[in-house]
Amino acid sequence: MKTGVIGTGNMGEILIDALVASKAASASDVLITNRTIEKARRIQERHPGMTVCREVTELVKTADIVFICVKPHDIYPLLEKVRPLFRSEQCAVSITSPVSTAQLESILPCSCMRMIPSITNKVLSGTVLYTYGEKCEKSWKAEMKKRMDQLCGEAVEINEAVTRAASDLVSCGPAFISFLTRKFIEGAETTGMDAQTAEKLAESMLAGLGELFKQREYTLAQLEEKVCVKGGVTGKGIAVLEAETGDMFTKLFQATHEKFAEDKQETMAQFGIP
Ligand SMILES: NC(=O)c1ccc[n+]([C@@H]2O[C@H](COP(=O)([O-])OP(=O)(O)OC[C@H]3O[C@@H](n4cnc5c(N)ncnc54)[C@H](OP(=O)(O)O)[C@@H]3O)[C@@H](O)[C@H]2O)c1
Repeated sequence: MKTGVIGTGNMGEILIDALVASKAASASDVLITNRTIEKARRIQERHPGMTVCREVTELVKTADIVFICVKPHDIYPLLEKVRPLFRSEQCAVSITSPVSTAQLESILPCSCMRMIPSITNKVLSGTVLYTYGEKCEKSWKAEMKKRMDQLCGEAVEINEAVTRAASDLVSCGPAFISFLTRKFIEGAETTGMDAQTAEKLAESMLAGLGELFKQREYTLAQLEEKVCVKGGVTGKGIAVLEAETGDMFTKLFQATHEKFAEDKQETMAQFGIP
C-alpha cells in the first residue's frame, strides 16, 4: 500500500519519520512532495528508497493514502487543483484542525478523515486524535486506526465539538508545558542557580514524570498527594500556584478558540460549508 505525504514542513516531516520508525509504512512505499521541493529531498536523504514526487498530481495518482500536511488556508486551493485525480478507493487524511471532514468530503470522492498529530509522535508517544468522515469506508477506518495506534500507542477518536480543546491538550500542550517549564527555570535562577543546571534538572524531571504516567503509576491527583507531604515545602509552592494561576487556563482556551473560529470562518468561505 502506497502512502503519500503532501507538505513536508514541521508536522509533515515528523509524520514521515514516525510512519517509517513505527513501521506503519516502509520507506519504499512512501511518496512525499512539498511546494519547496528541496525540503522533501532533504527528508528523502535519511530514508533510502523513499520517493520524492516533483508534482502533487503525481503523488495523488499513485498513493492509496494521502496525508495533507499544509496550513489551513492552503488546503482548499490544493484540493481544487487535484480533486479530479482522486479515486473513490483512496483515503485522504488532513492534519489540519479547522478543516472539517464534511468539508473534505464535499470536495473529494474518496474516504476522508482528519487526524491531529502531536510533536510527541516523533518518539511514537503521546496521542493522535482522529475523526472519520461520514462516508469513510469501514475498511479504511480499521486500516487507519491500526496505523495511527502504531504512531502513538493509542489514537483517540474525537467529535467535531471538542476538536479545539482536545487539540490544545494534545497538540499545543507540549509547547504550553515547555513554556511553563521555562518560567519555572527562570524562577530557579532567581535563587542563584545557573540556567544550564536548572534546565537540565527540569528536563529530566519532565522525562521522569512522563515515564510515571506512561507506566500508569499514578493519576495526576495521586501524584500531587504523594509529593505534597503535609506541612512540607511542596504545599507552600502549590499554594502560590493556586493563588497565581487563577483563571489563566480559562483565558488560554478562550484565546485558542477565538483563533480557531477565525480559521474556521476562512475555511468556510473557501468550502462554502462548515
Ligand atoms: N506543528 C504542529 O505541532 C502541528 C500539530 C498538529 C497539526 N498541525 C497542522 O499541520 C499543518 C501544517 O503545519 P506545519 O507546522 O507543518 O506547517 P509548515 O511547517 O508551514 O508546513 C507546511 C508545508 O506545506 C507546504 N505546502 C504548502 N502548500 C503546498 C502545496 N500546494 N503543495 C505542496 N506543499 C505545500 C509548505 O511548503 P513550503 O516549504 O514551500 O512553505 C510547507 O513545507 C497545519 O495545518 C497545522 O495546523 C501542526
